[in-house]
Amino acid sequence: MNNNNKILITETVLRDAHQSLLATRMPIEDMLPILEKLDKVGFYSLECWGGATFDSCLRFLNEDPWDRLRTIKKKCPNTKLQMLFRGQNMLGYRHYADDVLEYFVKKSVDNGIDIIRIFDALNDLKNLKTAIKAAKSEKAIAQVAISYTTGPVFTNDYYVDYAKRIEDSGADSICIKDMAALLTPYKTYELVKAIKESVNIPIQIHTHTTSGLASMCLLKGIEAGATMIDTAMSPLALGTSHAPTESMVAALKDTKFDTGLDLILLNEIRDYFMTLRQKYIASGLIDPKMLATDANALIYQVPGGMLSNLLSQLKQAGKEDKLQDVLNEVPRVREDSGYPPLVTPTSQIVGTQAVYNVILNERYKMCTNEFKDLVAGKYGTTPMPISDEFRKKIIGNAPVVNCRPADLLKPELETLRKEVAEYIEQEEDVLSYAQFPKVAVDFFKKRQNKKYGINSKCSDKEKNIHPI
Ligand code: CO
Repeated sequence: MNNNNKILITETVLRDAHQSLLATRMPIEDMLPILEKLDKVGFYSLECWGGATFDSCLRFLNEDPWDRLRTIKKKCPNTKLQMLFRGQNMLGYRHYADDVLEYFVKKSVDNGIDIIRIFDALNDLKNLKTAIKAAKSEKAIAQVAISYTTGPVFTNDYYVDYAKRIEDSGADSICIKDMAALLTPYKTYELVKAIKESVNIPIQIHTHTTSGLASMCLLKGIEAGATMIDTAMSPLALGTSHAPTESMVAALKDTKFDTGLDLILLNEIRDYFMTLRQKYIASGLIDPKMLATDANALIYQVPGGMLSNLLSQLKQAGKEDKLQDVLNEVPRVREDSGYPPLVTPTSQIVGTQAVYNVILNERYKMCTNEFKDLVAGKYGTTPMPISDEFRKKIIGNAPVVNCRPADLLKPELETLRKEVAEYIEQEEDVLSYAQFPKVAVDFFKKRQNKKYGINSKCSDKEKNIHPI
């Protein structure tokens, strides 16, 4: 079989699959017994780091994320390791100065990362520039992900224009990142075809099975020219996770897209993850609701996580009956604020503002600081311009950021090093601290106690937030 069109698979079971189904709570002990077998499959890459895994390691699993990465690298020397990286936010929740970002990328590569998937919530390339450059200078593969969303300005032309600029920026490949499961099969086909006609670098598709369409989207995307797809081993696939790896391998078998992966070996790996799945369901870590198909995303065009946030905010205010009003308000807030895609952190910012607008019965009577920052350009440039009139209404005469937001930040690595000096046991610790200062220090203290044999007993309260 001519295999020039061989489809490459990124296996997500070690990152996005458990981030989507069990709040990123898979510890390294659950990965260890299967790593060597995963390494034998011949996946294009194993997504295993970044995203929420770093925070979860430190906050909930009492695990050093750097140790986790080194361990996976040791057991999987033949497969490229991949991480998800939020541009200038790295894995944290604010913009970092370039010196911190460059050091983070260097240390990620030193410890085993081969592919860095970089994205920005606003699709503002300015926020990706330093990360792309840093990845390239560390000889990693720099993949830029387009945050996919819907709305009147998000035409194929918009995405083609962004894809061309991504290619010009030196990225090695493009990923269409459909975090909210909004893609439909024929939309995928048209989108991939349009991008393929305009750029020369490979295209990967990342979508979720939330609304039940993912495997059809992947297939249509492949037919249109995508050469890489994200999947998850079947026991941790479907629901809010990804299309099952084995099913996609079987679907493409004996066609020109054949992945060449061995279904028998995959089935052995499946057996292992099946035992984990049963364990997670029994312990309540996997909520069976997450495994069901949910078409809400397709109707309301908001990510599933955002919908449940809106509901809980309304419940707190005793206004559950206003959900439809809020859902009608979300597109209006997006329009006013330059059509931000709805992904972390913009989904929370827009959602909360829409709730305020509805429950206070007056639009923008009260604005969150985050919403003001978004309008002031502190997160970067929005896909569409914000009108001067609206901006004035929200932030008055406060200054507007038109440059790359990180250009306003002074180097901060040395300051951070000094702040956390007493806890540092490895060079990487300063980066854990930079991203999650309080959580990292708590982790460092526990690590010290363990080293000196001090028995740090968890209080009952602490036990409750450590589900494993
Ligand atoms: Co995802």
